[in-house]
Amino acid sequence: CKVRKYTFNVVMKNTTRLCSSKPIVTVNGQFPGPTVHAREGDNVLLKVVNNVKYNVSIHWHGIRQLRTGWADGPAYITQCPIQTGQSYVYNFTITGQRGTLFWHAHILWLRATVHGAIVILPKRGVPYPFPKPHKEAVVILAEWWKSDTEAIINEALKSGLAPNSSDAHTINGHPGQVPSCHSQGGFTLPVENGKTYMLRIINAALNEELFFKIAGHKLTVVEVDAVYVKPFKTGTIVIAPGQTTNVLVTADKSSGKYMVAASPFMDSPIAVDNMTATATLHYSGTQANTQTTLTVPPAKNATAVANGFIDRLRSLNSKRYPARVPRKIDHNLLFTIGLGINPCPSCRAGNGSRVVAGINNITFVMPTTAILQAHFFNISGVFTADFPANPPFPFNYTGTAPSNLRTIMATKVYRLKYNSTVQLVLQDTGIITPENHPIHLHGFNFFAVGKGLGNYNSKIDPNKFNLVDPIERNTIGVPSGGWVAIRFRADNPGVWFMHCHLEVHTTWGLKMAFLVDNGKGPSESVLPPPSDLPKC
Ligand code: C2O
Repeated sequence: CKVRKYTFNVVMKNTTRLCSSKPIVTVNGQFPGPTVHAREGDNVLLKVVNNVKYNVSIHWHGIRQLRTGWADGPAYITQCPIQTGQSYVYNFTITGQRGTLFWHAHILWLRATVHGAIVILPKRGVPYPFPKPHKEAVVILAEWWKSDTEAIINEALKSGLAPNSSDAHTINGHPGQVPSCHSQGGFTLPVENGKTYMLRIINAALNEELFFKIAGHKLTVVEVDAVYVKPFKTGTIVIAPGQTTNVLVTADKSSGKYMVAASPFMDSPIAVDNMTATATLHYSGTQANTQTTLTVPPAKNATAVANGFIDRLRSLNSKRYPARVPRKIDHNLLFTIGLGINPCPSCRAGNGSRVVAGINNITFVMPTTAILQAHFFNISGVFTADFPANPPFPFNYTGTAPSNLRTIMATKVYRLKYNSTVQLVLQDTGIITPENHPIHLHGFNFFAVGKGLGNYNSKIDPNKFNLVDPIERNTIGVPSGGWVAIRFRADNPGVWFMHCHLEVHTTWGLKMAFLVDNGKGPSESVLPPPSDLPKC
C-alpha cells in the first residue's frame, strides 16, 4: 500500500462558458477539478489550502472513512471550515472499496464548481470482475450558471422562493453544442474500432438528476457508487446528484462521430431547465467533415425510463464480493422526506411564507460548532440527540391535503449504537412538489432492500424485501410519492450526515445526522482529532 499525496489550492479562476466569463472557485484553477487516483488500501493525504474569500471544506463523497470521521468534510458536521489563508490535511485510508467516487466542496453552494473524480483501482493483481477495458475515462456531469451561484442562492433565501435553475448542463466542464453560443467546443472521447472503454460517470450537478446516453451504442452497467453490480445492458442510464455509475461501451462501429447526451430528468412539472449537454464519441480514422450521428434524449418527465433502469440494479453478490445485508434489525426507523412551508414575515416574496424542507418535520439548523467536535469535547448547547425515530403525526403522506407542511427548526441527531443494524424507511411526502429526492448517507454504504409507491406499509411491505442481492450504494433516489427501505450496519463511530443531494433541498433543511458512539474507549468510539483540525 502506498501513500498518495495531493495539494488542493482553492483559488478563483476566470472561466468562460456559454460565451460569457465569470470568476469561479476552483481547485488548482481547474473545472472540473483534478482527479484523485488511488488503490484500495492506500493512505491518502490531501492538503487543502484556502486562498479564496469563502470558508471552504471538502467532502470525499462515498469514502467510508472508517474511524477517520474527522476527514469526512461536511462543514459544521465533522469539522469547522478551513478559513481564508488556512489549510487542513484530510488523511484517510481507503478500506474495502474500489471504483469511482468523487470529491466536492461541502459548504455553501461551492460544490457547483469545486468537484472532481476519485478513481480507486483494485489492489495490485486483483482484476475487475468483468473483462478489462482497453481504456478508461472519467465523465463528470455538472451544471453551469452564467451568474454567481452564491448570489443566486442568497437571493432565493431572502425571497423565500426557489432559486433559478442552471443555464446549461456540462460534460467534463463543457455544455457542448448550444444554439445561443456557437464558438465553444464540447468534450471529445477518442475511440478505436473494436475496443471496449469504461466510462466512470459522475453526477456532480447541484440540483439535477440526469439521463445519459450515446447515439448508436449500448452501455453495460458494471458498478454504481463504487460497488460492483450484476452487469446489464441499457440504452440510457439515469444518475442522480451524488451517484456514480461505471459503464462499458464497445466501439462496434467502423468509424464516425456519435453524440453523447446528458439531459435532465425531473419529475417536477414546474422545472424549467431542459438543456441537454453534449459531447462526442469520435472514432479514429473518421473524416473531418463527417456529420455527427445524433440521439434524442428521453423526455424530462420520462419516469418509466428512469424506473426501468433503477429497478434492474442488483449487487454482484459473488463469492469475492458478497452482499452482506443485515437480517436482524436493531433500529427500525421511518423518516418522512419532504418540502414544506413555514411562516416568514420578513420574506419579500412568497406572501409572508417560505419554502422549507425537513425530515420527520424537522428542518435541520446548521450549528456554528461542528457536531463531531461538540460530541468529542462534550460541548453542550450545540445539538440534541432526540431526533425522532418516526414522524410526529402519521397521516396519508402521499395524499393531496395541504396539512403537515410545518416544520420545527432544530439541530437534532439520532444516536445509533456502535455496530448495531439499522433499517430506515425514507417516505416521500409528495405534497407540494412531486420530486425525487436523492438521499446521501455519509460514512456508510447501505442496501436498498425495498421500494414502492404510496405509503409504506410496515405489515405488508417487508415481506417483499430483497435480502439476497439488493443494490448497495451511498445515494438513493426516494421516488416521488413513494418510499425506499435501506439497511446498514453502524460499524463506524462518528457523526454522519444524511441529506438530500439536491443542494437546494439541503439548503432548505432536508438533512440530519446520525451519531455512532458507545463511549466505551477507542474501539467503539471516535478517535481524537488531528492537530490541524480547523478552529471554529
Ligand atoms: Cu456528496 Cu454530504 O455530500
